[in-house]
Amino acid sequence: MKESRRAAAVALPLGIMILLLMIGLLAGMKEAENSGLSIAERFQQATALPGKGISADPCPQKPPKPPQYKQYAEAKMIRLLRPQYRGLPVEAAIEQRRSVREFSTRSIDFAQLSQLVFAAQGTTGERYSHPLRAAPSAGALYPMELYVVVNNVEEIPQGIYHYNIREHGLELLETGDFSARIIEAGLHQSMLGKANATFAVSAVFDRTRFKYGERGMRYIYMEAGHISENIFLQAVSLGLGSVSVGAFYDDKVNLLFGLDGQKESVIYLHAVGTL
Ligand SMILES: Cc1cc2nc3c(=O)[nH]c(=O)nc-3n(C[C@H](O)[C@H](O)[C@H](O)COP(=O)(O)O)c2cc1C
Repeated sequence: MKESRRAAAVALPLGIMILLLMIGLLAGMKEAENSGLSIAERFQQATALPGKGISADPCPQKPPKPPQYKQYAEAKMIRLLRPQYRGLPVEAAIEQRRSVREFSTRSIDFAQLSQLVFAAQGTTGERYSHPLRAAPSAGALYPMELYVVVNNVEEIPQGIYHYNIREHGLELLETGDFSARIIEAGLHQSMLGKANATFAVSAVFDRTRFKYGERGMRYIYMEAGHISENIFLQAVSLGLGSVSVGAFYDDKVNLLFGLDGQKESVIYLHAVGTL
């Protein structure tokens, strides 16, 4: 009896040690497997659904859900026009779309800017009392915010604005000519300063990550593309030119819009101007 108790007393810690050793070995193997991969390759692997259905969640750690809407309560609001423009057939807009980097000095009018903002993020309907927007969003979670650097738009002073989606209005964050700052932040791409308006699409990442975890990051970047394409096609239809811009200094762009670059960060720019 004593003997078997002594044997059990030795076997138990030994078993735990072996178990820990095996876990360590497995973790080491996994790390070795990953170590040859670039950040992008690791991201792609780590966010892949493992083929066991959506319930086999590869990203179990999820942040809390942030508020759905951002509002600058103190800011002066310019209410935009409701969309009413009927332009080119979508087929013609697709056919004519080209990236345009040369803009004239003519201004765009208030209705044109209203239409562009609406095409990017305007509310177009609802499902179960949940508002839906012009560009699609994974799980209808809408992680994006939209900012506009207004440079040359009739009836809207130069400055930086935030789009209040619920009010379809622009909240004024700062007045002034920001063309030099946006050029500098945008890797010195001069069209950003000549554009009549430059849109900045930012992501509040946790609005999607709270549900989809790290995989949600994929969805967020896809969604930025949808928004940008809407702006592209709307600009063509309005007889304007535009170009999407992915090359910029993140820190400088985020500073311009007062974003921390972590919880919310600009992920895409889109410059629109007159031909
Ligand atoms: C994700 C993405 C990022 C881009 N970034 C830039 C950029 O920083 N500067 C620029 O001049 N064009 C940029 N472009 C525009 C591409 O250069 C352009 O779409 C491509 O040359 C094809 O020409 P097209 O748009 O006229 O069909 C970007 C396009 C995409 C889709």
